[in-house]
Amino acid sequence: MADLEKILEQYPFVQRDNLIPILQEIQDNYGYLSEEAIVKVGRYLKMPTAKIYGLASFYHHFRFNTKGKYHIKVCNGTSCHARLNTLIIQKIEKLVGIKNEEVTKDGLFSIEETSCMAACGNGPVMSINDEFYPDLTIEKVKEIIDSYKRLEE
Ligand code: FES
Repeated sequence: MADLEKILEQYPFVQRDNLIPILQEIQDNYGYLSEEAIVKVGRYLKMPTAKIYGLASFYHHFRFNTKGKYHIKVCNGTSCHARLNTLIIQKIEKLVGIKNEEVTKDGLFSIEETSCMAACGNGPVMSINDEFYPDLTIEKVKEIIDSYKRLEE
């Protein structure tokens, strides 16, 4: 993932015309436009943040939050950790191609590692939106994620 400064350096001329291409590139790299990114772009292009939000909202494909359509919360509490949740987390990351707190470029998946989800006896656990998945194994995780991918085919 390119860092934000590197993206901005590709636009050495401070022109407002560069706003949309810059925002597009940030979203392509990070999956969404964070508040921090918008503030930095504003400083760089000498534009007020509110104006950037206004313009970016006009283009419906820009996203401003860290959640994908399918938000995966995976427990990283002590008990799940003892039950090898790291393998589960790695598998999820591999299956959707992003890491904790990221959103896939198509906006479909996001991952959030959380503290105890109050189901320690059934760890490792995760949820996707309102659906809760206990007693995870590597195989189960693959089946579950694949079933969400199939919904989009
Ligand atoms: S530590 Fe994972 S549910 Fe409690």
